[in-house]
Amino acid sequence: MCGIIGYIGKDKALPRILSGLKSLEYRGYDSAGIAYVKNKKIIVQKEVGRISNLEKKINLEEDTYMGIGHTRWATHGEANKINSHPHTLGKFTIVHNGIIENYQSLKDELIKKGVKFVSETDTEVIAALLNENYKNEKDILKTILKTTKELVGSYALGIICTDDLEHIYATRCGSPLIMAQDKNGSYIASDVPAILNYTNKYYLLEEKEIAKISSEEIQVFDDNLQQVQKEMHTFEGSVETILLNGYEHFMLKEIHEEDTAFKNTLDYYVQNNKFKETMPDFKKYQSIHIVACGSAYYAGLVSKYIFEEYVNIPVKVELASEYRYQKNFYDSNTLVIIISQSGETADSLASLKMAKNAGIDTLAIVNVTSSSIAREAKYTLYTKAGVEIAVATTKAFIAQVTLLSLVALKMAQREDLLQEFKGIENYIQDLVNRDYLPYAKFLYQNNNIFFIGRGVDYALCLEGSLKLKEAAYINSVALAAGELKHGTISLIEDNTPVISVCTDASIALKTISNIKEVKARKAKVLLITNEDINDNFYDYKIDLPKLHPVVMSIITVIPMQLIAYEVAKLRGCDIDKPRNLAKSVTVE
Ligand code: F6R
Repeated sequence: MCGIIGYIGKDKALPRILSGLKSLEYRGYDSAGIAYVKNKKIIVQKEVGRISNLEKKINLEEDTYMGIGHTRWATHGEANKINSHPHTLGKFTIVHNGIIENYQSLKDELIKKGVKFVSETDTEVIAALLNENYKNEKDILKTILKTTKELVGSYALGIICTDDLEHIYATRCGSPLIMAQDKNGSYIASDVPAILNYTNKYYLLEEKEIAKISSEEIQVFDDNLQQVQKEMHTFEGSVETILLNGYEHFMLKEIHEEDTAFKNTLDYYVQNNKFKETMPDFKKYQSIHIVACGSAYYAGLVSKYIFEEYVNIPVKVELASEYRYQKNFYDSNTLVIIISQSGETADSLASLKMAKNAGIDTLAIVNVTSSSIAREAKYTLYTKAGVEIAVATTKAFIAQVTLLSLVALKMAQREDLLQEFKGIENYIQDLVNRDYLPYAKFLYQNNNIFFIGRGVDYALCLEGSLKLKEAAYINSVALAAGELKHGTISLIEDNTPVISVCTDASIALKTISNIKEVKARKAKVLLITNEDINDNFYDYKIDLPKLHPVVMSIITVIPMQLIAYEVAKLRGCDIDKPRNLAKSVTVE
C-alpha cells in the first residue's frame, strides 16, 4: 500500500527511482509520481494508473542525482494527478505512506493562516505544516520533529527541501521505511525489493526516528535529535527470488513455490521428526486468541480446528479490524497469536499492541523478517515462504497453516505426528502441476459462485472464495454447508456453480447430503475431496490424496488457488495487482 523510494548519489537518479517503484508495484497503487532536482530546482511529474504511464512521460537520462518517487493507493481523494504524490508546499516536497487522522483540523488551522491547498489529500497538509513550522524553526531536522509531534495517525515520509538539496530526509510512524547504501549512493524505500538491484544490505528506520541521507552518508536521529547507530541487516533471498523467472504471473510462480515454502518452514522447526530448539513450547497457555486479516485470518480459522483437536484448549479466531475495538476477555494464561504475511497490517499491529498493553503474551506468525509485527510481539515465529509479490497470497497461506499446525503439535506434545509431514511437498507438487483449465472454463462466465464445506473444509472454502473474488472479480460466497438451507439456498437455480470441499471423513456424509440438496435444485457441482465417492451427484471432481487430518488442510486449498488463477486469466484480470487491492495494508 503506497510505495516510497528515494535516491541520492553519483548515478543518474531517475532509472533507480523508476526501478525502485516497479519493484514496489506489488504493494498496490493507482497513480505514481516523482520529484527530482535539476539545476537546483525541484521538478515534479505524476501520472494516474500504471508506472509505465509515468515512464512514458519522463526522460530517464535526465541530469539529476537526487529524487523521490511514490506509488499512491488512494485514501483521501480519488486517484487523479492532483492527489498523486509528491506534494509540494512552499519549500517542502514530500511523499507519504499512511493516513493522518487529524489532517482536517490541521488543514482548517493552516487555511486560517492563509495556506492554499490544491489537493484533497492528508499528505499536502503535512507538506504545508512542514513549511509553516520551518518558518520558525529554520532547521530541517527540528522542523520535521515539531511537525511529526502534531500528526496523529500513521506515516512514512520522504522529504526534500529547497534549502538543502544535498540531502533527502525521512521519518516514520506506523508505516515501514528502510535505508540502504551502495558505492553509488544512498536510498530510502518502503521495502527491501526496491533496492535489491543495487544492494541486499539495509537499515531499518524505527518509529519516530529521522533519517538524513546524502550521497555518502546515512545519519539517523532519535526524537531528541541525538544521532543513533543503526544495525545493518542482510536480505537473505536473491534478486531472482523477486523476479518472474519465466512464469507468466507472480501468483502462478508463487503457487509453484508452495512445495518449497512448506519444506523450508517445516525444516526450520523440525529435524528427523523431532522439534528443533527454534520451536518454543507454549503449553503453559490455556486459551488462545488468533487475530488476523483476510487470508491470514482464514489460516487462523483452519488452525483453530487443529489446536482444539490436539491441544484441547479453547481457541477464538477474530478479525483484527473487529478485535481491536471490542471487549476482549483474557486471563493470565491466554496467548494472543497474530498472523501476518507482511507483518505491517495496521489492524493486526494495533490488535497486537492492545493485547500487549493488557499484559497478555503475544506470538507473531510472520513472513517478512523484522517487520513491525515481528518486532513488537513477545515471541515471533517466521514462516519461511520467501518473498511474496502477488497481491493474492498463496504460498504464505500454506506456510502459515503449516507453522500453526506445528505450534499446535508442540503444545499438544504430539511429536509422534510429525512423521505425517514427511513428503507432503511431493503431494503439493503433484497438485500444483495438474490442469485446472477445464474447471476454470466451467466457472469463468458466472458472476455468482458458491463454496460449501463443513468444519476445516468450511474455513478452506472461505479462502478459496476470497481468491476468486480478489483475483477474478467474481462474487463468490463461502458457506458452512449446513447453513445453506437457512436462507442462501434460495439463490441456487439452474446451473449455479457450487464448489464443495469434503475432506473430513467424520462429517463427509453430512456434506454429501448438502451437495445433494443443491444438486436437486439443478446446481452444477465441483467436488474437491479425498473421499472415495463414486456416486453421480456431482458434475466435476478433483481427487485429493488421503492424508492424516493434521496435514490435510495444508494441501486442500491448492486446487482452489489454481482455479482462481485460471479463471482470472480467462477473464483477463490484472492477476498480480487486482484493482483496489494492496499487498501491505498499512491503513485501518
Ligand atoms: C488475500 C490477501 C489478504 C491478506 C490480508 C492480511 O489474498 O492477501 O487478504 O491476507 O490483507 O495481510 P497480512 O497477512 O500481510 O497481514
